Amino acid sequence: MDRDIKISIRNLYKIFGPIPDVALAYVRRGMGKAELLEKHNHVLGLQDINVDMREGEITVIMGLSGSGKSTLIRHLNRLIEPTAGEIKVDGKNVLAFDEDGLRKLRREQMSMVFQKFALLPHKTVLENAGMALLVRGHTVRDFEDEAKKWLARVGLEGNENQYPHQLSGGMQQRVGIARALASNSPVMLMDEAFSALDPLIRSDMQDLLLELQEELKKTVVFITHDLDEALKLADHLVILKDGHIVQQGEPQEILMHPNDPYITDFISDINRARVLRVRSVMAKTTEPPADSAGDISDRDNLESVIARSDGRYRPCLSGGQKRQSGRHSRDERTGQGTGAGRCIGRRQSQPLLIGGHPGGGGLLDDSSVTDGLL
Ligand SMILES: Nc1ncnc2c1ncn2[C@@H]1O[C@H](COP(=O)(O)OP(=O)(O)OP(=O)(O)O)[C@@H](O)[C@H]1O
Ligand SMILES: [Mg+2]
Repeated sequence: MDRDIKISIRNLYKIFGPIPDVALAYVRRGMGKAELLEKHNHVLGLQDINVDMREGEITVIMGLSGSGKSTLIRHLNRLIEPTAGEIKVDGKNVLAFDEDGLRKLRREQMSMVFQKFALLPHKTVLENAGMALLVRGHTVRDFEDEAKKWLARVGLEGNENQYPHQLSGGMQQRVGIARALASNSPVMLMDEAFSALDPLIRSDMQDLLLELQEELKKTVVFITHDLDEALKLADHLVILKDGHIVQQGEPQEILMHPNDPYITDFISDINRARVLRVRSVMAKTTEPPADSAGDISDRDNLESVIARSDGRYRPCLSGGQKRQSGRHSRDERTGQGTGAGRCIGRRQSQPLLIGGHPGGGGLLDDSSVTDGLL
């Protein structure tokens, strides 16, 4: 097994109903979710799921309501038993664990952050943050320092003695994250953890997660139905539909090469300039720059590249994209509009040159604009 793989899922099926094994035979012979429900009154929850989740990475499971996201994440700590298949954590078959092994897995290996925060209302913020340690038999005095440390880390210093109802939704979710971190488990399972928050707070929480992740390198399994959130957080993106995986891979790769009309449809409404990274569209060149717009990183998004070129370049947009761009074409940091100036496109004689990234010079190929990537 690959040393870096923390969680490995193989040929996983889940069918809800009284005789799942019989229903499984129909599914293996090709019966889909709708037909299985109509003819045999069984629900196809998951179908032939194969995913490797790497240590220290954020794996995002995305899909519409009912696609099987929660069913999948709950298999990882066996809150749900599979109908067929295999789940390994650190190479060990979770399905073979006895009660003791399972308890250890849930308490020591995995922590969960829920959409509805799941804080205990009669316990203080400090006690809630230390809940995993309390369950393991530690006293408040034992875990006080640890819990305080993580509460401070998520911006809740001074709130330790308050009760959950005295906190805003965003603050309550920070307690949920502090609780998961204080448990010191290497795996964090987050089921729609930010979905109940308003957009600004949600964005703050995403930033906080990425910042913590930079430092702590947990193995995070994050569920969302929001594509922007998925693209912002995912190292590895898994897209579910009706219980099966439609496509999985590096998010930029999926954006550039959607392999199914369902995915194409899913990503059609997003502002690609904001989510596509320079590294996804650049090409190596040995040509000297004729017209340099300055140094940028290969991790920058295309929108910031356009902004940084001082408005001398802007993408050639179709009518629909122009409407979309009108909503989004402001530089997040400066608030400056980015639409003025020359158009990047095939008619332009020089492509926009970028430099300074680790691989040396590269070209932001203008065909990425005319091919509809922006
Ligand atoms: N205990 C159950 N009994 C029967 N069917 C179930 C059960 N749990 C889930 N399902 C079905 O399995 C499918 C997947 O449900 P799941 O809760 O995993 O979806 P989800 O992607 O998490 O959706 P949401 O975004 O609404 O949370 C749905 O069709 C659901 O009706
Ligand atoms: Mg769900």
